[in-house]
Amino acid sequence: MSSFLHQRPLQSTLSYFHEPSSHPSSTLAQKHPSIFNRAGLLVLLLVLVILGVFMPWSEMHEGIFWSTRPALTKWRDYTLAQAASVVAKNGTVIVCAVSQPYLPFLNNWLISIARQKHHEKVLVIAEDYATLYKVNQRWPGHAVLIPPAPDTQTAHKFGSQGFFNFTSRRPRHLLDILELGYNVMYNDVDMVWLADPFPYLEGKHDVYFTDDMAAVKPLDHSHDLPPPGKKGRTYICSCMIFLRPTVGAKLVMKKWIEELQAQPWTKSKKANDQPAFNWALMKTSGQVDLYLLPQKAFPTGGLYFKNQTWVQETKGMHVIIHNNYITGFEKKIKRFQDFGLWLVDDHANESPLSRL
Ligand SMILES: *[C@@H]1O[C@H](CO)[C@@H](O)[C@H](O)[C@H]1NC(C)=O
Ligand SMILES: *[C@@H]1O[C@H](CO)[C@@H](O)[C@H](O)[C@H]1NC(C)=O
Ligand SMILES: *[C@@H]1O[C@H](CO)[C@@H](O)[C@H](O)[C@H]1NC(C)=O
Repeated sequence: MSSFLHQRPLQSTLSYFHEPSSHPSSTLAQKHPSIFNRAGLLVLLLVLVILGVFMPWSEMHEGIFWSTRPALTKWRDYTLAQAASVVAKNGTVIVCAVSQPYLPFLNNWLISIARQKHHEKVLVIAEDYATLYKVNQRWPGHAVLIPPAPDTQTAHKFGSQGFFNFTSRRPRHLLDILELGYNVMYNDVDMVWLADPFPYLEGKHDVYFTDDMAAVKPLDHSHDLPPPGKKGRTYICSCMIFLRPTVGAKLVMKKWIEELQAQPWTKSKKANDQPAFNWALMKTSGQVDLYLLPQKAFPTGGLYFKNQTWVQETKGMHVIIHNNYITGFEKKIKRFQDFGLWLVDDHANESPLSRL
């Protein structure tokens, strides 16, 4: 709400400052520069006084006077350790990794998190400088860029080497946050929260995750790592992961990094980071306390968007919906719209970023 409020004066102030150029007094200014300067100074003072008197929020002053590009570049040096200490609540951070084309999805996801009152712990790992500046301008401190920034032109085409490189950074970022001592929840931003997921993170397990298999399971299915499927491995989603800062969770992240390095992207295989995550889980399962979250609460998009019977049967039990099993921005947006989950058009004011 406060960030919504502080956007409006920014625009009206800018229009005050633009006025003189289109105003008759600008011709006067050319003839009598000293008079204009004095008048200009008076106008400026007046604006400052009005702002000081009627808008007593310090945040707002900052928004108006310091959100210019040079001031924003200070975020270039903002470190993960600083960012985590700013946003963490109860020793927990919620992270996502976003490049500029995904900003509408980021905003949609944030609205759903704000509704569950967990947005204050969100840290956006910006994958380009435009995203870093945009998020921190609207919501200071909530975005960090861990250099080097991947090539943005190639980073968002699903199945491409650029996309693989981009997602390969994920376990590294998560491990870094664990090493700093925080619990961390990772989400893809093509997700929407319908309820608070934290009560589902029961017990003291190392790693919590969701199954990406669309086959319907019994409501009381096991919380163990499922048996491997056709490809000799499990189909756990790397889209939603909760980790405690334990030896076990760190081991899984290290193994994930190793697996990515051992099976790099090739033209014929066109891998993403998910198989490597599954191999890491399988190979460490003897040493790590793993916890499969309930399907009824965390269904894959392959189930939620495709089986209305199941959705009806499990009505009221859904917690996080993932818009996967479909590729392409337009198709994802359309599907969210069809299911009433595209919140940015009508509810942008609920986002800490406001309308983007
Ligand atoms: C922190 O944890 C306590 C106890 O689990 C809980 O009551 C409280 O709501 C949490 N605070 C935040 C900001 O999540
Ligand atoms: C991906 O990473 C590899 C290895 O670091 C690099 O050689 C390649 O140029 C990168 N490709 C893209 C498209 O980012
Ligand atoms: C859809 O859900 C119903 C109810 O849970 C289930 O019986 C059925 O097998 C599911 N259909 C498919 C194609 O998975």
